[in-house]
Amino acid sequence: MSKHLSRDYFLTLQAALKKAGLAEPVLLLDRQRLNHNIDNLRDNLPDGMNYRIVAKSLPSAALLEHVGKRAGTQRLMSFNAVMTRQLLDAMPKADILHGKPLPVAAADGFLKSLPTSRARQINQIQWLVDTSARLAEYAALANKHRCTLQINLEIDVGLHRGGLPPGDDLHQALAFIAKHRRLELAGYMGYEPHLTKLPDLEGWKARAKKGAWDLYAAALEQARAHFGAAHTEAMTRNMAGSPTIRLYKNTRLANEVATGSALVKPSDFDAPLLASFQPASFIATPVLKVDKQLRLPAHEFANGLLGEAEKGTAIFVHGGYWMASPVFPKGLSYSQIFGRSSNQDYLQGGVRVSIAPDDFVFLRPHQSEAVFLQFPKIAVFDGKRIADIWTPLGVSA
Ligand SMILES: Cc1ncc(COP(=O)(O)O)c(C=O)c1O
Repeated sequence: MSKHLSRDYFLTLQAALKKAGLAEPVLLLDRQRLNHNIDNLRDNLPDGMNYRIVAKSLPSAALLEHVGKRAGTQRLMSFNAVMTRQLLDAMPKADILHGKPLPVAAADGFLKSLPTSRARQINQIQWLVDTSARLAEYAALANKHRCTLQINLEIDVGLHRGGLPPGDDLHQALAFIAKHRRLELAGYMGYEPHLTKLPDLEGWKARAKKGAWDLYAAALEQARAHFGAAHTEAMTRNMAGSPTIRLYKNTRLANEVATGSALVKPSDFDAPLLASFQPASFIATPVLKVDKQLRLPAHEFANGLLGEAEKGTAIFVHGGYWMASPVFPKGLSYSQIFGRSSNQDYLQGGVRVSIAPDDFVFLRPHQSEAVFLQFPKIAVFDGKRIADIWTPLGVSA
């Protein structure tokens, strides 16, 4: 955890929450820390490198707009058809790349639901395609809707989460797109978060990185053969995610990197390459009950040691069971014996934990994409007070 997450910091947050009348679980976003992270990302991009915001990791329209403005980008990565529609509503000029291939029925549903007055927005969307079979389905979809679809090919650069490695299948997919009058090659996506996670065993990591880049380079060479150098240079050449954004020092392969998580830095992203990013989001939840002893349920009816209360502080909070770990007050932990509850989670700590009902417990999310969506309110802290309330995607203000 960052050393700046001091007791004073959380006490200021707590005072701000109370002043704002917030008394139920809330997702807190520290705007100064978020801005530091956005600037840090933007200022360290190599020349000519674009930034695509991973929307699922920052799932709030206001948050995405804030990041887009400050980072100077309209590129978004979406992960389902409903999200794509929400993103287009929030940022009508956005360029949206799907970060996973959607079943063609989902794409069909999206196209059917888009009003004809907004049909032009179809060109702003890149559909990720991972196999020749799916490509044929999207070709049929384009024919059915009599529209042109922008196709982005998922390239397997070693993650093996699907996609086409360079070779015959990719050749056939490229030839199919080149021939089809309603399909356009919008780009490639080669996701490789494994590169920083592999153990550094006898050069494995270095070989995996070189291997991934060689595969992407070979796939680009195939695109040049079908679509020419200028098209291949200009098309979307997407790579990276939070763990790997810092690996790209020029635009020889990728001309854009995608990340979202690094900007709020949940604890799963505490990695050396992201050391200059700061944790910027927390869960704050009020304490409902405090017991200055640790008592098992029905302990008084048990024999022997089990029958005795232990010294310590037991706390029940409002809500719980989030993918998050307590960070303040210090020394709190979950109990294997008590288990977890989404209704009134139990936390325990030492005798010196100083907390009373209506005070807040702060937790740091492990990840953002699912956790942010569990809160109806995102409270934006400006260093002194709660300056804004944002809503997560899917909740209207
Ligand atoms: C295709 C793709 N690109 C990039 C990312 C990185 O997202 P983030 O850095 O927000 O975790 C993901 C995450 O799942 C992804 O699936």
